[in-house]
Amino acid sequence: MLNDIHDRPHSFGELIRHNGDAPYDFVFLNGDMFDYQTDEQQLIDHLIHPCTETFARKKPFLFIRGNHETRGKFARQLKDYFTNPGGQYFSIKTGPVFAVALDTGEDKPDTEPVYAGIVDFDQYRMQQAIWLEKQLQLKEARKARFRVVMMHIPPFYSGDWHGTLHCRKLFSPLFDRYRVDLVIAGHTHKHGIHPPVKGEHSYPIIIGGGPKEGKRTLIKVSADANQLAVKMLGDTGAELGEYKISSR
Ligand SMILES: [Fe+2]
Repeated sequence: MLNDIHDRPHSFGELIRHNGDAPYDFVFLNGDMFDYQTDEQQLIDHLIHPCTETFARKKPFLFIRGNHETRGKFARQLKDYFTNPGGQYFSIKTGPVFAVALDTGEDKPDTEPVYAGIVDFDQYRMQQAIWLEKQLQLKEARKARFRVVMMHIPPFYSGDWHGTLHCRKLFSPLFDRYRVDLVIAGHTHKHGIHPPVKGEHSYPIIIGGGPKEGKRTLIKVSADANQLAVKMLGDTGAELGEYKISSR
């Protein structure tokens, strides 16, 4: 997983290379690949081309929006360029993992003057909460060895702006109730591995780093029937931390 690249196309190659020859199924782009959407050329130069040069000739990527992808004059065209299985938020079963990707929307309240009254992320997140509960009730979710959620704005450790609090209120109780094993996020530009905290969140939250040199991360997630393992690498390739979860 890569997150918060923020219009720095060189980062794709500089981070992915730390995977070396280790096998993997896909790269997950967890939002804020851009600062804001300008035009098609930006999509080509700052995502499609560097990903293709680096890995995407051979491996697929999946991409969900961060708050920054909701901004700019070309933001509403973004969805025409990338196809996820199911749309802008989606679920996939991959090996022993049932994974859900949420589109967490903007970080500020919909009524902020900066949005000029043209966004409704509260309703959008509420729709996703209804959808999420149905997803987690699916047999393939319940029977999966591991349930993983990928989302840009984490429900904790991300300040107290509206986006974080709304994600916490809507999604976190569902993560608890349906025994989500792991949440992977970005947004804060500060990497962190946060184990479960009693009374707060029953699942670990892993947050990738920021866009600047020295802050960037590559998060590697692997799973077999017995164990889900997460390894976080910094942009020098040094291991910043790891987390292991045994199958219940
Ligand atoms: Fe960001």
